[in-house]
Amino acid sequence: MAEVPSSVFSKDSEILVKQSWELLKKDTTTNAVIFFTNIFEIAPAAKDFFPFVKNSTVPYEQNAKLKQHATLVFKMTGDAAVQLGEKGALEALGPGLKKLATKHVTAGVVDAHFEVVKAALLKTIKERLPELWSTELNQAWADAYDALAGAIKIEMHTQI
Ligand code: HEM
Repeated sequence: MAEVPSSVFSKDSEILVKQSWELLKKDTTTNAVIFFTNIFEIAPAAKDFFPFVKNSTVPYEQNAKLKQHATLVFKMTGDAAVQLGEKGALEALGPGLKKLATKHVTAGVVDAHFEVVKAALLKTIKERLPELWSTELNQAWADAYDALAGAIKIEMHTQI
């Protein structure tokens, strides 16, 4: 399997991502729900991927399944992002990567969807950390996300 280049993820980016994740993870569930709210605002059609959103009328913050799923995804993204510098994307995502890729392939996720999730993640960080936010912080998270998404997409492509 091809290794994902980690050279774009600089030491400065690593420090910025670690600093901001310390703050974001203090309120993981709230931030995760905002993250998913942003996904559905940017691309309303993305709701169709998630039966617990598609078939529900309750507000997102009261939707237990959405909260659980959003928290899982948000937490995995942040926890992997802070390990990127030391381990690289493949190891940061851990041994569950193959299974994770299979789930996304089965759900019908394609490369273009990753851009929507990226935009939603960056929007969430800007909204939730207005005082810490800078173009450098934004770029650091963009690079971290690209490295993680790149590893998932490569694994997905080996399965399609
Ligand atoms: C499921 C992470 C990108 C759609 C999941 C799960 C995780 C995850 C941890 C739960 C897997 C499980 O239940 O064991 C991520 C990360 C992403 C990413 C870290 C980007 C870096 C995307 C994108 C989409 C997407 C771009 C497109 C809409 C889904 C769907 C499921 C899922 C539909 C549910 C699959 C199922 O259980 O049937 N993702 N994801 N994900 N993700 Fe993602």
